[in-house]
Amino acid sequence: MTEGKRKVITYGSFDLFHEGHYRLLQRAKELGDYLIVGVTTEHFDESRGKLNLMDPILTRIENVKNTGFADEIIIEDHEGQKIEDIQRYGVDIFVLGSDWTDQFDYLKEYCQVVYLERTPNVSSTMKRKDRIRIIRIGIIGTGRIAPRFFTESKYVSGVTIPCAYNPEKESAEKFEKNHPIEVFTDSFDDFLQNVDAVYIASPNETHSGYVRKALDAGKHVLCEKPMTFTYEEAVELYELAEKCGVILMEGIRTAYLPGFQQILSVAKSGKIGEIRDVEACFTRLPSPGTREATDGRYSGAFLEYGSYTMLPIFKLLGMDYENVQIDSIFAPNGIDTYTKIQFKYRDGLATAKCGAGVKSEGQLIVAGTKGYILAQSPWWLTRSFDVRFEDPDLIEHHDSSFQGDGFRYEISEFISKINRTGGNTYKLTAEESIAMADVVERFMRTKADVQGDLRI
Ligand code: CTP
Repeated sequence: MTEGKRKVITYGSFDLFHEGHYRLLQRAKELGDYLIVGVTTEHFDESRGKLNLMDPILTRIENVKNTGFADEIIIEDHEGQKIEDIQRYGVDIFVLGSDWTDQFDYLKEYCQVVYLERTPNVSSTMKRKDRIRIIRIGIIGTGRIAPRFFTESKYVSGVTIPCAYNPEKESAEKFEKNHPIEVFTDSFDDFLQNVDAVYIASPNETHSGYVRKALDAGKHVLCEKPMTFTYEEAVELYELAEKCGVILMEGIRTAYLPGFQQILSVAKSGKIGEIRDVEACFTRLPSPGTREATDGRYSGAFLEYGSYTMLPIFKLLGMDYENVQIDSIFAPNGIDTYTKIQFKYRDGLATAKCGAGVKSEGQLIVAGTKGYILAQSPWWLTRSFDVRFEDPDLIEHHDSSFQGDGFRYEISEFISKINRTGGNTYKLTAEESIAMADVVERFMRTKADVQGDLRI
């Protein structure tokens, strides 16, 4: 029976439970007669950009329970839940620590809001830092992506970026001017000596060479897509990583986003029945003069965007397709302005469409025997999707927001793989990455054939 009692509610992740948490719960309880504690799910924390929690949710709940202060423990798993809970449980007082002062004043409409003085000199973040080895990541290539990687890495615990490498002096100097790190331009070996891991964001044709050198030096590698242009080299590189006892990960950002994980879970749950077709489209009109518009050898629609479009196909239909058909439209400079790849499986079909000079609706459709999933552009930065059925009134909408530009989820996965703290996540397996390299190789061959013809 809880009638007549003054109800207090508070929320937190309560990771690596510490004295600050204990004192907060103790004082929260003293404010009333009945204390409800909301503990966040990993998924909710991920979506609000809080990555690398160390304790699983059951441990975090157990620790809250062991204080003896909580009369009821609930799970917080979505944005906006606080307002729902306050009404549902008839809460009188909402409590959080003083690090949140003012941020929940909008709840004053529903109940009293109290910010309790935070306990000094202790936090989960500090405890995590004590426990984990800080990984030094060096950036190779200081072009367009590197600054974003640098910014986003700040949101992942356990990472530092001490230096970068770029043999092109002009680009190196520009980067060095805007970032507080050293950029090596001469000795790649000197650069490697300062890092535990590298992030490769250099031009496409240089990726695999850097991967090999870094692996040989015993460094973990996160490489932008496409990692290589051939099946055999992809196999070799993953074997080399295995032999050197280091992590090799291909940087296809979508694979690591919480929303994309959710699409896969819903698709595999049986909700839309047996999956029969996956159609993924990614088009972007390149600005004049950029690599996507000018580098007819190593850039263009498929080499830039193909990995995104193949990802949901291989994730959902597997890699054992019976047949693949590659068709492109080429510009005179060799750029494929539009490429369409069709896969035929025993019980399914799939299409990957990429454009760099052709604009289309960039959507992902996963069709099943009972319904389909529709994720609209930009589905590769998944923030929401619908599950739809024969009955047009029956639409399930899923929201899954994420923070920043999504890079931090990829970096976080890389770090937890290096530290072996994340279990087996299968977000992008070596097999899937190798299967993509196989299609890249077929594409390169088709392109060489066609361009050979064109030259004649
Ligand atoms: N808290 C506190 N004193 C501390 C740390 C946390 O009073 N030294 C409070 C927070 O203000 C919040 C609750 O404990 O009301 C749960 O906080 P949580 O975010 O789980 O803990 P932090 O240690 O702040 O976690 P992090 O470092 O990951 O942000």
